[in-house]
Amino acid sequence: MKIVLCGFMGCGKSSIGRRLAKRLGYKFADMDRFIEAREGMKIAEIFETKGEDTFRAAETSAIESIMAEDNIVVAAGGGTVLRQENIDEFHRCGGKIYFLDVPVAALKERLKNDRNRPLLQRPDRREFIDKLHRERYPKYVSAADIVVDAAGPAVYIARKMAEMLAEEI
Ligand code: S3P
Repeated sequence: MKIVLCGFMGCGKSSIGRRLAKRLGYKFADMDRFIEAREGMKIAEIFETKGEDTFRAAETSAIESIMAEDNIVVAAGGGTVLRQENIDEFHRCGGKIYFLDVPVAALKERLKNDRNRPLLQRPDRREFIDKLHRERYPKYVSAADIVVDAAGPAVYIARKMAEMLAEEI
């Protein structure tokens, strides 16, 4: 089984993913960390020196390597499933995509002091998050095989998902 978590920045893909993997006895991979290790650079540095397009290409090429593993939970980057070719590749590799749905007000609160995500380093952060979330929401829903109501603490959501998945495994 290969579980892919997608959703907006701050929705808990990594913190829920790590806990979920532990509960299931699966491996865990974080796409952003994988790309940083492969490129030898932080995401912010890749955006700054090589541009967003290069980062998006690195995301696409990371999928095949990450998805070669079985029994794995993958935290996708917030923009990964906005490209149809990435969705197709996750599915081709046997992945099931879960969208972690968190209300935008909670996302704004969680992201208000973020200093690492290049897209958010702007003075109109709150308005930008609203706009980006409006644009992306339907895309996350359509990319997803399953939509998870993920408002709440990571520990709780991970437990809920593990219980749900236990019936499938
Ligand atoms: C991005 C989300 C980030 C990271 C990059 C771009 C996006 O991942 O991939 O900064 O376009 O939403 P997280 O969702 O893990 O923060």
